[in-house]
Amino acid sequence: MSELHPDVQEVLLSEDDIKEIVSRVGAEISRDYAGKNPLIVCVLRGAFVFTADLMRAITIPCAVDFMAVSSYGDGVVSSGVVRIVKDLDTHIEGRHVIIAEDILDSGLTLSYLINMLKARKPASIEIAAFTVKDTEGQGPAVKPRYVGTHVPDAFVVGYGLDLAERYRNLPYVGVLKPEAYANK
Ligand code: IMP
Repeated sequence: MSELHPDVQEVLLSEDDIKEIVSRVGAEISRDYAGKNPLIVCVLRGAFVFTADLMRAITIPCAVDFMAVSSYGDGVVSSGVVRIVKDLDTHIEGRHVIIAEDILDSGLTLSYLINMLKARKPASIEIAAFTVKDTEGQGPAVKPRYVGTHVPDAFVVGYGLDLAERYRNLPYVGVLKPEAYANK
């Protein structure tokens, strides 16, 4: 286990937990999409680490493409604004698309994205969410077909997830100490 970052209060998912989660999701996708050559859509930036590991856990032919949207500013609260920063290069008409997402919170980002991508007539479109945040109330606006695991309703970092572009490189998922927000 790597040394704990001084700003991290608690590790929620260790490197071993993550490995187990990703290989399970990869196996599920490999089973469900055999013969379908799915396109894995990585939603930048947060999902790039999960996508890279997920691709290697998928044992059937598959392809990858990238999109960038911004739904959060540099803070911890949703701005409610979803902006397409980079679109796909791949034509998805008739393709089986799986959106790889780092964390599903309100789901507003993905709900917007999915509606936009559906207009391009993919054969199917599903979500593989590495984590789903357990929030009070109705839960995310979209339903992921694949869920890695659930995390509590706290701001988490690591394994691609950031606070103002920091901590993405942590190999585990953790909760920050309150001071870490203040220093931001
Ligand atoms: P949603 O639209 O509320 O589902 O927000 C999804 C996006 O917000 C994720 O893809 C992340 O980029 C970001 N996000 C939501 N919760 C967290 C968190 O706890 N840590 C880091 N980023 C988060």
